[in-house]
Amino acid sequence: MCGIVGYTGTQQAAPILLEGLKKLEYRGYDSAGIAILSGDAITVSKISGKVDKLVEKTEGGRNCPGTSGIGHTRWATHGAPTDINAHPHLSNDGRFAVVHNGIIENYQELRDELLAKGFVFYSETDTEVVVNLLELYDEGDVKKAVMRTASRLRGSYALGVVCTDEPGCIYAMRESSPLIIGIGVGENYFASDVTALVSYTRNAVYLDDGEFARISAEKAEIFDSSGTEIRKKISRITWDVQTAEKGGYEHFMLKEITEQPRAIKAAIDPRLHGREVTMDDLVLSDRYLKGLKKILITACGSSYYAGCAGRYAIEQFSGIPVEVVLASELRYGNALIDRHTLMIAVSQSGETADTIAAIREGKSRGAKVLAIVNVVGSTIAKLADWTLYTWAGPEISVATTKGYTTQLTVLYLFSLYLAKRIGIVSEEKYNRMADALNALPRLIQESLDMNPSIPRIAGKYHSFRSMFFIGRNTDYAASLEGALKMKEISYIHAESYPAGELKHGTIALISDGQPVVALCCNDFISEKTASNIIEVKARGAKVIAVTFRDNQNILSLADDVIYIPRIETELSPVVEIVPLQMLAYHVAKENGCDIDKPRNLAKSVTVE
Ligand code: G6P
Repeated sequence: MCGIVGYTGTQQAAPILLEGLKKLEYRGYDSAGIAILSGDAITVSKISGKVDKLVEKTEGGRNCPGTSGIGHTRWATHGAPTDINAHPHLSNDGRFAVVHNGIIENYQELRDELLAKGFVFYSETDTEVVVNLLELYDEGDVKKAVMRTASRLRGSYALGVVCTDEPGCIYAMRESSPLIIGIGVGENYFASDVTALVSYTRNAVYLDDGEFARISAEKAEIFDSSGTEIRKKISRITWDVQTAEKGGYEHFMLKEITEQPRAIKAAIDPRLHGREVTMDDLVLSDRYLKGLKKILITACGSSYYAGCAGRYAIEQFSGIPVEVVLASELRYGNALIDRHTLMIAVSQSGETADTIAAIREGKSRGAKVLAIVNVVGSTIAKLADWTLYTWAGPEISVATTKGYTTQLTVLYLFSLYLAKRIGIVSEEKYNRMADALNALPRLIQESLDMNPSIPRIAGKYHSFRSMFFIGRNTDYAASLEGALKMKEISYIHAESYPAGELKHGTIALISDGQPVVALCCNDFISEKTASNIIEVKARGAKVIAVTFRDNQNILSLADDVIYIPRIETELSPVVEIVPLQMLAYHVAKENGCDIDKPRNLAKSVTVE
């Protein structure tokens, strides 16, 4: 969703801000803009559409001179994606400019108040109230105006502010929306996402809720909400520039699919030593574990599907019942949560609003929260009692691939950890699982290598308007993510269905030529899925089976086959999803879709 950047130093700000905005494009947006402070004037340039249009409009930033400024990519919430609604917004007197991520929940009330005082509004955005509040509260001290404004706002925000009274200074404020200060030499930055900073600096200060910063070329002063200066740790950004760039691949998605063996190794290596799982970041006492009655996994989108797939291993190895609940539903349902519940919140970005709300709900009912997160220092990582990072590195493509598989890997590692602590599995089974986890990076690589026919299969089926994905048990869990990948990047309606359930209604939709992707990687029930394949074929379906090379029964039934190497059943989803990511990728490519930035989607969904 929206992204913000800020720069102050001795170089021209506009080209640096435009570069930063390009790095944030992957998050999803529909307009972009910059405000440059030069002497006592602010130049604003903004446009609906892509950052490249803004680059053109500003001649690469050359027609916006000045050495400090702020920039924004907007994903429309309040008001359509028009030039006027694009950020930055200016105060009525033109002395303040503001960029904003998040939502000001009480904006209507503030707008009415400001209208009554004679302020004029030009856009439909909630953000314009912020910039006019700054003007209202400015009595010659920008810091005070910032504080008074913040005290009036309800909702979530990462805000960047410039004011003509303080040339060379940029302000940044945070409440429930990520904001990072980048510390350079003779120049400083802020951004809502480290990907916009890594080309310039690796030294970062992560702001917490209620904090704000006054940043000049020489220093970044951080204050709490009462205005008292506070000292914050400078963290080192470990993500490198190359992993956030395409590196010769046609799309980020393709690059990230092929990075999976490495990403999964990075998730496993620090935690699995031989057959011993260690989780240094996790302190679960024996007493706590003995008292556990339930594990509740909560998440959104693919992270939710990772939870659906991971539950089998956790349940089987720990003997603790696992419930998987969509974060957006959790608050409004009556999930039974108390201090005997361990909540696992799964999130690539660590910023998903619904997941954050679900964690708060879980905590308020007494649960402890373990977060499985990719982005270091993210809101969810901070909120949780414990965090296990997935170490997938930056994921730029909106459709997650390595984000999902590393989440699943960490869930598997956690299931083994529980198996050792309180488990109910035999030593023999435990050892087999540990060996399988050690082999995962190789098996993922094999699943990529053994399917050169995927582009051909994609060519055969890409023009169909719908696809079914069927499977049972762990296969069904993997099919959920397989179908989502197909939907989100190729725009083909794809429905995942438990294979045994088809005959209770949905089979009515199967007609001549209907593609059905049948996942058959669960040895215990593959035969049952085989009967469902026969049922759909009898009604004219074309079946693309996902299975092992030696599964003769399934191979004889399928029209096309996608292979995976043999793997322990509980862990099979993490392997079988990889060729399905490839299938979705090639179908989307055949259909000429914008693979890395699918329409209407955002990488990080920070609204509920
Ligand atoms: C968005 C993304 C999905 C992602 C979901 C949850 O919808 O497009 O790919 O699975 O949010 O995001 P999270 O960052 O919490 O994993």
